[in-house]
Amino acid sequence: MNDARSRLIVALDLPGRAEAMDAVERLAGRVGYFKIGLEIFVREGPGLVLEVLQRGERVFLDLKLHDIPNTVAGAVRSAGRLGVHMLTLHASGGRRMLEAARDAAASMPSPPMLLAVTALTSLSEDETRSIGVADAVEAWVGRLAGIACGAGLTGLVASPLEVAGLRRQYGDKLKIVTPGIRPAGAEAQDQTRTAEPGQAILAGADYLVVGRPILRAPDPGAAADLIVGQMENALRARAQLKS
Ligand code: C5P
Repeated sequence: MNDARSRLIVALDLPGRAEAMDAVERLAGRVGYFKIGLEIFVREGPGLVLEVLQRGERVFLDLKLHDIPNTVAGAVRSAGRLGVHMLTLHASGGRRMLEAARDAAASMPSPPMLLAVTALTSLSEDETRSIGVADAVEAWVGRLAGIACGAGLTGLVASPLEVAGLRRQYGDKLKIVTPGIRPAGAEAQDQTRTAEPGQAILAGADYLVVGRPILRAPDPGAAADLIVGQMENALRARAQLKS
């Protein structure tokens, strides 16, 4: 699989197993990962994860773990035993929770990449204040990113607008996974902080998460190929800028 393809993650935000496996069949070999989130995981359970893995595809299990260190470490081991390749957890669980997760992953033969979610992009400044966060949201995101980096996590999930700043601050120490991707002309739907695939790659994203612009396209395979093409161009431009 070429480099750009392996960096494209398709979010399987679909009603159930049949629709999810249909999407996997159509897109197998054309994208790098399939993201299984809370809704479909709660409905279909680990059976769906195993089915996608047995199909030879890579899985990003987006469960956003947040609990005491011992419980999160156990959940990381369970996910690792399933064989998933990426797993999310909340940086706001604190340094000890993140370190317990890191150690649990390190004890596995093929550990998942652990990705920290900083501030949920749905939270407004009013809401973060109401839950007791004194920092402005941007400063809070920076603080949480620092904790995740210090705890030795693989990377972060960050909106396209945060990528360049995080890349400047952390260099290549953290992988950055970016949702909110909309090809030129596509509807933003409920996303507010969006960027085109090429823009997100140029800003420094390592992986892009795309859901509806691929799944709801008349030809999802062709939509994925188009995005991959834009990622390839941006990766080439990025490499030139670096050299
Ligand atoms: O359909 P769309 O491309 O908007 O899907 C984006 C995916 O990325 C969804 O699964 C969504 O839950 C996820 N996501 C996001 N914003 C975040 C974190 C995750 O859109 N901050």
